[in-house]
Amino acid sequence: MDKDRPDEMVVLLVQSILCGYRLIDTAYSYGTEKMVGTALKLLFDAGIPRDAIFVQTKYYPVMPYSGKSVRKQFEESMENLGLDYLDAYLIHQPVPRYSELEYTERNISVWKEMERLVEEGKVRHIGVSNFLERHILQIAENCSIAPEINQLEINPQFQQRGLAEFCKKRGISVQSWGPLTVTEDKVKTVLQMIADKYGVSWVQVALKWNIQSGNIPVCFSKNIRHLAENMALDFELSDKDMEAVRLCNTADAHRKTWWYPRQQMY
Ligand SMILES: NC(=O)c1ccc[n+]([C@@H]2O[C@H](COP(=O)([O-])OP(=O)(O)OC[C@H]3O[C@@H](n4cnc5c(N)ncnc54)[C@H](OP(=O)(O)O)[C@@H]3O)[C@@H](O)[C@H]2O)c1
Repeated sequence: MDKDRPDEMVVLLVQSILCGYRLIDTAYSYGTEKMVGTALKLLFDAGIPRDAIFVQTKYYPVMPYSGKSVRKQFEESMENLGLDYLDAYLIHQPVPRYSELEYTERNISVWKEMERLVEEGKVRHIGVSNFLERHILQIAENCSIAPEINQLEINPQFQQRGLAEFCKKRGISVQSWGPLTVTEDKVKTVLQMIADKYGVSWVQVALKWNIQSGNIPVCFSKNIRHLAENMALDFELSDKDMEAVRLCNTADAHRKTWWYPRQQMY
């Protein structure tokens, strides 16, 4: 969401719920929680029940990164959102920014505070985002509530299949962020060829492939026509076409990002 155009974004959010979307994904670090709160108030005032919308936000691990800091940031997020409970609360990334060397103990203490939020009835589900296997195991070995969600970048050119399978085997729902982030022309060409067979767009193929792979795509658009298109997924990709998308997993573009090597390192 574009935090510089709040009114427009509130309207889009309301429209997206009317279009059928039910999960709102935000984060403390996006600076969009207040906008989400405004849209939610409009929707609830119009009679949409609270339990019809799944609202999730994320704790952003900057130093000081501790149980105390998660409580403080959580309370601020809840005030921004105007909610008395949250459907899901995620740790945004496994390593606190600017402090790569001291994250394991801190992840565990943050997680224990998130467990307390569940015990107090303030949060329904707790999870993580951008966590690799080892980061999940560090938490799982030291917790009473296991992570229920891992939100990961997953799209046809960057599939993270091993990690997604690991999560599913442990009963962790996999949400895919950046599901439409396809920058490589060769991948777009394959998606477009498949799309032509079904009379849909390459974007719809990318979303359907993600869903048929067992993931929950979390996509974004500022365009109401695109929002509607992204919900129109009433077709089934054949095994052959699923395999063709599977072969697009080059990860080339991602190795060049600033965050990918860091994520692998810590
Ligand atoms: N956990 C994390 O670390 C993390 C990181 C990044 C994002 N996220 C979450 O994931 C969400 C989505 O990821 P994302 O923002 O990276 O990108 P995305 O959903 O993969 O792609 C968004 C882009 O796709 C375009 N688009 C959407 N529908 C389209 C359509 N039908 N036809 C053509 N273009 C279309 C949008 O342009 P238009 O506006 O023109 O439609 C926008 O530029 C975010 O909103 C955020 O909630 C999480």
